[in-house]
Amino acid sequence: MNSKQVVLVTGSSAGFGRLIAETVARHGHTVFATMRDPQGRNLTHATELRVLAQRASLALFILDLDVTDESSVQRAVHTCAEHAGRIDVVINNAGYALIGLAEAITTEQARQIMDTNFFGSVRVNRAVLPFMRRQGAGLLLHISSGAGRLVFPAFSLYCASKFALEALAEAYHYELAPQGIESAIIQPGAYQTSIFGKMARAADEGRTETYGVANQVPAKINNILTNTAGNPQEVADAVLRVIETPAGQRKLRYRVSPADIGVDEINALCEQVQARLFEASGIAADLAFVKRNAAGSA
Ligand SMILES: NC(=O)c1ccc[n+]([C@@H]2O[C@H](COP(=O)([O-])OP(=O)(O)OC[C@H]3O[C@@H](n4cnc5c(N)ncnc54)[C@H](OP(=O)(O)O)[C@@H]3O)[C@@H](O)[C@H]2O)c1
Repeated sequence: MNSKQVVLVTGSSAGFGRLIAETVARHGHTVFATMRDPQGRNLTHATELRVLAQRASLALFILDLDVTDESSVQRAVHTCAEHAGRIDVVINNAGYALIGLAEAITTEQARQIMDTNFFGSVRVNRAVLPFMRRQGAGLLLHISSGAGRLVFPAFSLYCASKFALEALAEAYHYELAPQGIESAIIQPGAYQTSIFGKMARAADEGRTETYGVANQVPAKINNILTNTAGNPQEVADAVLRVIETPAGQRKLRYRVSPADIGVDEINALCEQVQARLFEASGIAADLAFVKRNAAGSA
């Protein structure tokens, strides 16, 4: 693989996605910074990135991509492949948070967050994989969360979406390895992005009247997360390191966090248990190509 890579990032209008796009492009890679509606709701963000690309002579291009819209995903991926001739890395970053006690979250709100945070990656991965297969190489990178391993009350559906993303990314990790395609996960802790300000709230609060002190949990957890949030550039730097790690040497999981809340322990234990599962089911030899040292720091 060429050391300078072609990278598609989802959700590049703000937060990690914006920083990842700039950081990766500044290191000489070609970046397709995608966002929904760059001519409308994200016009200011798209214009800022275009100006930056021009001033700093970066190979940084804006594409319209809404991860909840299949045709939008297909269009952006095909445009990227046509312009650059390949797609080496896709960063599944687009996502949002939803706060509130589980019962107060409506079925429609639950469906919507899964559609963005989980099905978004299903769509994007399915769109890029035929190109990566033709290349015989590629990296699917998923921005999960500590909430993809630990359950935070008041973030039930957000956690569910990230647990689902972890399962998808890990299955791809095992299944794609023989074709030279890698799947990896970044698990950020709390970082100061626009996610906290834009958080969706459970719509059916009437359901929580009998919950007593449990009603205080959402505000308490939210305060802890926002007060301990770190500098999001740490996540962009970690993504760059993973991208620049030679193919075949990347790990499955990378925890990046200002706080140690035990996610590394869960990762290490799961790695051992998965290995035992593969031995017991007689597929360990089939999966021998997957590195044993599956988790670590970026
Ligand atoms: N910040 C943290 O503490 C933290 C911790 C762990 C994991 N994460 C994860 O990191 C990822 C990025 O979050 P962030 O903290 O950078 O939040 P952010 O600042 O709110 O950025 C989220 C990005 O996702 C985009 N997005 C949302 N729905 C989209 C859709 N349907 N199609 C395309 N783009 C969409 C947003 O675009 P719009 O401007 O159009 O809404 C925005 O660009 C998320 O997956 C989040 O769950 C964040």
